[in-house]
Amino acid sequence: MRELSHAGGQSFLKDVGSRPFSYERSLLCCDGASLADLSVEFGTPLYVYSASHMLHRLDLFRRSFADRPHTICYSVKANSSLSILALLAQEGAGFDIVSGGELERVRRACPEALSRIVFSGVGKQAWEIDAALRANILLFNVESPAEIDLLASRAALLGLRARFALRVNPDVFTETHPYISTGLREHKFGIEIGRARDLYRWALRYPSLDPSGVSVHIGSQIRDVKPFAAALEWVVDLVTDLKEDGHSIRYVDVGGGLGIDYGPEGSFDPKLEMEKYAKALQPALSLLDVHLLLEPGRFLVAQAGALLTQILHVKRNGTKTFLVTDAGMNDLIRPSLYQAHHEILPVQEAHPDSILQSVDVVGPVCESGDFFARDRKMPVMEAGDLALLLDAGAYGMSLASNYNTRVRPAEVLVENGRAQLIRRRETLDDLLANELLL
Ligand code: LLP
Repeated sequence: MRELSHAGGQSFLKDVGSRPFSYERSLLCCDGASLADLSVEFGTPLYVYSASHMLHRLDLFRRSFADRPHTICYSVKANSSLSILALLAQEGAGFDIVSGGELERVRRACPEALSRIVFSGVGKQAWEIDAALRANILLFNVESPAEIDLLASRAALLGLRARFALRVNPDVFTETHPYISTGLREHKFGIEIGRARDLYRWALRYPSLDPSGVSVHIGSQIRDVKPFAAALEWVVDLVTDLKEDGHSIRYVDVGGGLGIDYGPEGSFDPKLEMEKYAKALQPALSLLDVHLLLEPGRFLVAQAGALLTQILHVKRNGTKTFLVTDAGMNDLIRPSLYQAHHEILPVQEAHPDSILQSVDVVGPVCESGDFFARDRKMPVMEAGDLALLLDAGAYGMSLASNYNTRVRPAEVLVENGRAQLIRRRETLDDLLANELLL
């Protein structure tokens, strides 16, 4: 039995706080499962996820929009492991996908959820569009005039009618890392909102297209909710115009992007953040009579997951101390790629009076960019000790690579104190299987 249960449309969950990791008798656990035990059973580096934590976040989203028809389309790219998709799908989630590969993942995890898919992305190919059309997904989020043509011709060839939304670019600034901001005119994403009305009109020439929605997504890890509201206000104006033009707009997709706090456990209250987000969208939503689509990724899964690693060596160079871990930038690239902060905890709880030392936590990969933390105050740790990199449930494993010919980590999902393997550790044979030696 999962912690989430439904009765008369209500769900009951114990409050799981902002992270599912805590010390029990001085040892770090995930929902009661000892991480030290998991390291023995499954090895390291190991991604560890809490199922109930993810379901709790999904439930927060659901409750916040319970007063209107909506579908939460979890953004598969955040963490695309099949068991996680199945977990969320069983609770009614839909999915935001960006490739034929992600479509196939949803098909394998939960075929019934195919009808709850929205397909985003600036470079969809004919085979991906065909697969999605055949799967009868809910909505294509179209990002360019050329893609309107392509979707229309593929749908016509298959004798189908494609529901589509234009992904509009509202030219709204967001305070986030430049690599993950998407809502400005200079970005490759979406279509200038000022051109959208004409394009919908133009799309009417295609009987194989059903202009049925408007979509917007302005970026990721956005902590201030005002830009979400500003973007939606633009969308409301557009929907009004489109309805005036006779289009039957039934869906508004507000995208994802709601951020989390990667800092030390403190004031972050996910319930409050969720309320702020829903409240910011409320005025614009109250003017819309549509089915609402939401595409959260990070908010649902980031804090449910962590990367467990072992310290291989403690190394001193000049004045610096390096903790060299068995996980590297290929396993979790966020610190290298976005200078992202991840909290790091020793699995064996440090004594409250223990001295802290300033260390760099680094991986074994041959790049100076291969670090998890620089000049971080940490309790003294030794070779063989275990450490946990927090908030790695989103854009951790999904961005992992084989750089330096390193096998990717295993993943486990903890449900009610019981950990189950959801991805076995890659082997060197897996890794080399597709290569042809001439
Ligand atoms: N919808 C669309 C169209 C997206 O492009 C994204 C994320 C999402 C939804 C989900 O956004 P979220 O709720 O997770 O913020 N690798 C980066 C994040 C890249 C986000 C890409 N798009 C990171 O590690 O921070």
